[in-house]
Amino acid sequence: MANCEFRPVSGDKPCCRLSRKAQLCLGVGLLVLTLVVVVAVVVPRWHQESQRSQWGGRGTTHRFPEIVQERCVNYTQTLHPEMRYVDCQNVWDAFKGAFISKHPCNITEEDYQPLLKLGKQTVPCNKTLLWSRIKDLAHQYTRVHRDMFTLEDTLLGYLADDLTWCGEFQTSELNYRSCPDWRKDCSNNSVSVFWKTVSRRFAETACGVVHVMLNGSRSKIFDKNSTFGSVEVYSLQPEKVHTLEAWVMHDGRGDSRDLCQDPSIKELELIISKRNITFFCKNIYRPAKFLQCVKNPEDSSCISEI
Ligand SMILES: *[C@@H]1O[C@H](CO)[C@@H](O)[C@H](O)[C@H]1NC(C)=O
Ligand SMILES: *[C@@H]1O[C@H](CO)[C@@H](O)[C@H](O)[C@H]1NC(C)=O
Ligand SMILES: *[C@@H]1O[C@H](CO)[C@@H](O)[C@H](O)[C@H]1NC(C)=O
Ligand SMILES: *[C@@H]1O[C@H](CO)[C@@H](O)[C@H](O)[C@H]1NC(C)=O
Ligand SMILES: *[C@@H]1O[C@H](CO)[C@@H](O)[C@H](O)[C@H]1NC(C)=O
Ligand SMILES: *[C@@H]1O[C@H](CO)[C@@H](O)[C@H](O)[C@H]1NC(C)=O
Ligand SMILES: *[C@@H]1O[C@H](CO)[C@@H](O)[C@H](O)[C@H]1NC(C)=O
Repeated sequence: MANCEFRPVSGDKPCCRLSRKAQLCLGVGLLVLTLVVVVAVVVPRWHQESQRSQWGGRGTTHRFPEIVQERCVNYTQTLHPEMRYVDCQNVWDAFKGAFISKHPCNITEEDYQPLLKLGKQTVPCNKTLLWSRIKDLAHQYTRVHRDMFTLEDTLLGYLADDLTWCGEFQTSELNYRSCPDWRKDCSNNSVSVFWKTVSRRFAETACGVVHVMLNGSRSKIFDKNSTFGSVEVYSLQPEKVHTLEAWVMHDGRGDSRDLCQDPSIKELELIISKRNITFFCKNIYRPAKFLQCVKNPEDSSCISEI
């Protein structure tokens, strides 16, 4: 418009009308182009972003690939040199392969089988320690009692302990913004299925006397919804496991109740006995003293603690 008005030559109206038309065309063209760009580029990206952040749980742990690989080297070279033969590059590839590019709500136990194969490990009989709702104390125990193993003292449990991870459907990326939450989003997510798979295998391969540490401060000391109550209890093999011994940990404030009589413990006893495994239960009244006595079993004050 401005151009037309400043045109010096008179009687040049056709030019201006044409030019106006052209400008209109240009304007419409630009508008269409903008729309096309928005539709083709911005919307999918925005859509992708919204998909990426749609989950209700914490996203993949920062530096997840590095942490897993470092832990693998640490475990196989330093903590358990008897597993030096493990190729950590293969382990990482198998771990990634289990969930990358898959829908993070559609992970199966089969997806983790290649990783399980690489992480095969034998825990000696009588050395398995299961735990439920009392992870820290169980780990303090095995840190002192080095020949006992919780799942997190085996290679696969060690790699993944306290980490979160998930991928995105049809991309090779990790989702660092959010991952599916077991409760809010879906149960078959990469983290939950991993723990279910490795817990099952851990319990299936246990033998001799198996111990389980339970939290006596909880309203359900034995929780059927826990990994122990829903997976491990049913995965112990009666041909190999003759006894399950439960340690009910008190909070150490002088509580003298016999928590082995708790109805949920009776329920556990029934499930275990029905599976032809002997059940024992022990109150551990003073966990701090108990741990100390694991360190110094010769201490005369420790006779009655273990
Ligand atoms: C390696 O293991 C040692 C001993 O348990 C630990 O202190 C260290 O943090 C571990 N390093 C990594 C990268 O996990
Ligand atoms: C879930 O995975 C199975 C097997 O990999 C596949 O057949 C199915 O189509 C997937 N479902 C969705 C919703 O992605
Ligand atoms: C496991 O413990 C049971 C009972 O305490 C014992 O009879 C058995 O010899 C132990 N097995 C091993 C391999 O230590
Ligand atoms: C036992 O459970 C209680 C209640 O949920 C919790 O506050 C406590 O931290 C747990 N104890 C341990 C050692 O994890
Ligand atoms: C999760 O996976 C299991 C085993 O593949 C299947 O039986 C179950 O239906 C799945 N659950 C959901 C909610 O998709
Ligand atoms: C177990 O979980 C189900 C569903 O999530 C819930 O309805 C039930 O109350 C839970 N049971 C226990 C013992 O917490
Ligand atoms: C338990 O043992 C009894 C007697 O040996 C046998 O009859 C029964 O089938 C066994 N039950 C299971 C669940 O293995």
